[in-house]
Amino acid sequence: MFLSGYWLQVVLSWAVVAFATATVVVAVQKAKLEKDLQDVQNKIDIYEEWNGESTHRMKREDTVKYRLPTALVPTHYNLYWHPDLETGSFTGQLRITINVVEATNQIVLHSYLLDITNVYVLNREVDKFELEEERQFLIITLTEELPKDARITLGILFGGQMKDKLVGLYSSTYLNEAGDTRTISTTKFEPTYARQAFPCFDEPALKATFEITVVHPSGSYHAVSNMQQTESNYLGDFTEAIFETSVSMSTYLVCIIVSDFSSYSTTVRANGIGEDFSMQAYATSHQIEKVEFALEFGAAVTEYYIQYYKVPYPLTKLDMAAIPDFASGAMEHWGLVTYRETALLYDTSYSSTANKQSIAGTLAHEIAHQWFGNLVTMKWWNDLWLNEGFARFMQYKGVDAVHPDWGMIEQFQIVALQPVLVYDAKLSSHPIVQKVESPDEITALFDTISYEKGGSVIRMLEALVGSDKFEEAVTNYLVKHQFNNTVTDDFLTEVEAVVTDVEIKKLMLTWTEQMGYPVLNVSKEADGSFQVTQQRFLSNPASYDEAPSDSEYGYRWSVPITYITDDGTEGSLIYDYDVETVPIFVASTVQWIKLNVNQTGYYRVNYEESLWTLLIQQLISNPDSFEIADRAHLLNDAFALADASQLSYRIPLEMTAYLGQERDFVPWYVAATKLRSLHRSLMFSEGYVTYLNYARSLIAGVYEEVGWTVDADNHLKNRLRVSILTTACALGVPDCLEQAAQRFNAFLLNPTSRPSPDLREIVYYYGMQQSTSQSTWEQLFQLFVAETDASEKLKLMYGLTGVLNSQTLFNFLVLAGDENIVRSQDYFTCVQYIAANPVGESVVWEFFREQWLQLIARFGLNNRNLGRLISQITANFASSVKLEEVQQFFVKYPESGAGANSRLEAVETIKYNIEWLARNHADITDWLSGTASALTKKTQL
Ligand code: BES
Ligand code: ZN
Repeated sequence: MFLSGYWLQVVLSWAVVAFATATVVVAVQKAKLEKDLQDVQNKIDIYEEWNGESTHRMKREDTVKYRLPTALVPTHYNLYWHPDLETGSFTGQLRITINVVEATNQIVLHSYLLDITNVYVLNREVDKFELEEERQFLIITLTEELPKDARITLGILFGGQMKDKLVGLYSSTYLNEAGDTRTISTTKFEPTYARQAFPCFDEPALKATFEITVVHPSGSYHAVSNMQQTESNYLGDFTEAIFETSVSMSTYLVCIIVSDFSSYSTTVRANGIGEDFSMQAYATSHQIEKVEFALEFGAAVTEYYIQYYKVPYPLTKLDMAAIPDFASGAMEHWGLVTYRETALLYDTSYSSTANKQSIAGTLAHEIAHQWFGNLVTMKWWNDLWLNEGFARFMQYKGVDAVHPDWGMIEQFQIVALQPVLVYDAKLSSHPIVQKVESPDEITALFDTISYEKGGSVIRMLEALVGSDKFEEAVTNYLVKHQFNNTVTDDFLTEVEAVVTDVEIKKLMLTWTEQMGYPVLNVSKEADGSFQVTQQRFLSNPASYDEAPSDSEYGYRWSVPITYITDDGTEGSLIYDYDVETVPIFVASTVQWIKLNVNQTGYYRVNYEESLWTLLIQQLISNPDSFEIADRAHLLNDAFALADASQLSYRIPLEMTAYLGQERDFVPWYVAATKLRSLHRSLMFSEGYVTYLNYARSLIAGVYEEVGWTVDADNHLKNRLRVSILTTACALGVPDCLEQAAQRFNAFLLNPTSRPSPDLREIVYYYGMQQSTSQSTWEQLFQLFVAETDASEKLKLMYGLTGVLNSQTLFNFLVLAGDENIVRSQDYFTCVQYIAANPVGESVVWEFFREQWLQLIARFGLNNRNLGRLISQITANFASSVKLEEVQQFFVKYPESGAGANSRLEAVETIKYNIEWLARNHADITDWLSGTASALTKKTQL
């Protein structure tokens, strides 16, 4: 436990005051002092719970029971909504048909931030109704008990506000071509915000059918919802749009949009599995052409999923809409997927290759949910990974099916797997299946463990059972549980049923029920075989002493091992968690072995040094003897193991020698990411200059080769180019900075002619970085304010955060607080960008602490982006002074809302950073000043 000394002092000083004055103060004052003391003690308790032995725990024990009582089951909602775009408020009426499964005289459902104006129950008498803030309950008490098996109809009249929010039913605005502000209204309910738009039984297992009517202004406005519109009633100024009754679904999937958007349409071919249906894409009228790419890709990927799942698409249409203000990236409402504009709209004159890929990925993700998530839904949020992990896994398959030349299968490794391996090597991580109850805990669970670890272990499972068998299991699962809810075990049951030789559940529980993952240690035995042992992998060696041993599986895993050897042998075996060690027998002539082929397994592999040396020699003499994915894996594991002091830093550094021959995007992405992060870690250390020279020499060749001309149609080369140029600029390669500056200046002289979209972020950021003129920043700022394309606006915003002037960055931080300058949806991205600039880091930290109460007031403690901010902005802190500041901040503001885990992570990361420098600095600089300097001189950029 840290800072206990500090806190002891605080307590003591309070105690001294209490003691010295106790004899003279009157009872009232004494009581106050005791209360103050108690407050301090409470803070310490909370604080210790975060930082003490229980660092690994996600939350404090909650006494509040957030779940709805089980007496009632809703089956049908009849909903009438009238969002008033002019006043920014809405009214609504609903009737819910409810089955009574246990006798009760109370109806308990969710309602939050709603005015309830009338409550009635057909043929029954309501005694009273009250709202309970903490649990967001509406509790209706009847004068008489409802008998078991009764069927009742509950009616409620309600209203609420739509302004200044991004969840529930809310309004969003944009400027049309004439420059007028237009307002639309839309919804975002997942996970617990349907209750802010209508009183409902807001739990995912309480599925019901929905019959929705929406009132919208007559004329250019219209309404859309999950289902097709069946009728329209013209009432003069207003029109009622009536939608077909939905299939049975969870409340969080309900969606309506009232807008003046335009749409394009296409047809999705069912090719024998169900009926063809139409797909519409909606956007603001002046941007409608930007939906073309999404529409074409959306139809293609939907057709792929129909064939993959072998289950017809359950509805008769699938729409998508680009919403100007949207809290997350996209949301899979059944039949009506909503997106941020940047996640749906593609325009060749604004969007980069990376934007294009990200749009495709987002669509593929949300459309995958239409079956996995919407048709079959988790019973409760504990199993959220079934939704998000699966969609994350599937989105790569989906994009790969439509664009096989984008290298999506390998990209899973660098975008999903490798980053989560960093997160999950900390004690502040948590298991995939995680008990959650309160809205704060639920929203916090939409994190990298549910998405990336979830997706990664599904990918590992697929590799283990084979893709055909896996696909078969998925189909069986969907068919068996359609329109229903499941837990993790239901999915594993179906996978287990299609294989004969592996105990899938036993194996998978070690991955879903305990956090973290193993490192396999490989050594060569005298008889030529290899010996494999496992140990939990923790990135900080000090964590091994603190790690609790509270897992049923003892933090051991059943690992599907795959391997290749230098004689071309491929093999696989399962290393059960309850087995001490496993041997791998190979021909006596075999020299090297590489485990975890294509890094499909969720684990790291360490070898004894002589084996690493052989792998490195092989990489250098013939890189192509390893697949792209294996090269990316070797780099990633070697650095991670060295960072964790489980391997000499000499090994990854020697491995980098092969990079001179590397030309593929994925391995380079791994290397470039590491070169940039080392650059940041060593920035204030003695070895910095030596490191810089070395890192620059490594990318010299590939930098020359990718150049500054964007290819018309070479996706991966384009991705490689941006990764290399970004890294070269970050490392201060003179030519790169000069090229960026030249393009930046040309652009400022004539802003209508912009660099190629792929190069814009680099040009704006590093151009701005090199400018010392305030008027340049102002000019860029004006262009940013005037920009209406969401994608371009973000690129300009990024550019503005590159300036190396703390005063300017501070000003921007203040300006960004104005919703008219930076939309709420982009605020956290902006703050993060500023914090990622070494000059902005302390500016943001100071601002964040000063403005904390205002931030809570604006976004609420339940905002998961606000919650995550703390670990993001402190991610590079590496001193005990900073650590103390962070800890003091937590003590001052113990309420963390959705940010509880982010706080744990922040503290752990800072401690890690401090220790990392102490452990590795000498090793790295020694190696660099010896071996590397000779090499560097030859290939200076
Ligand atoms: N179901 C989520 C949307 C969501 C995210 C709801 C967080 C509640 C909290 C959706 O399927 C999703 O995962 N969206 C991603 C983008 C996607 C490409 C992964 C998001 O919003 O970050
Ligand atoms: Zn999702």
